[in-house]
Amino acid sequence: MYVCVCKAVSDTRIKRLVSEGACTLRDLSRETALGTCCGICVPAARQVLSEALSAQPIRLSDLGARAPMTAAAA
Ligand code: FES
Repeated sequence: MYVCVCKAVSDTRIKRLVSEGACTLRDLSRETALGTCCGICVPAARQVLSEALSAQPIRLSDLGARAPMTAAAA
């Protein structure tokens, strides 16, 4: 489904960009120009972005976690 008709950006593309690290509307706009023409797509894009971020698995690196120390390293 197209979210941004002006720039031909689909929900699938937004989800892919989120999986590649995009996490803000600005990130999406920088990559696709989404929302830079008429702007009517912005609320829908924000919704798709929010859902895509919620579906992302949490990575330990996102939490600032470090690998457990071993006895030799301690
Ligand atoms: S529909 Fe996205 S800028 Fe017009």
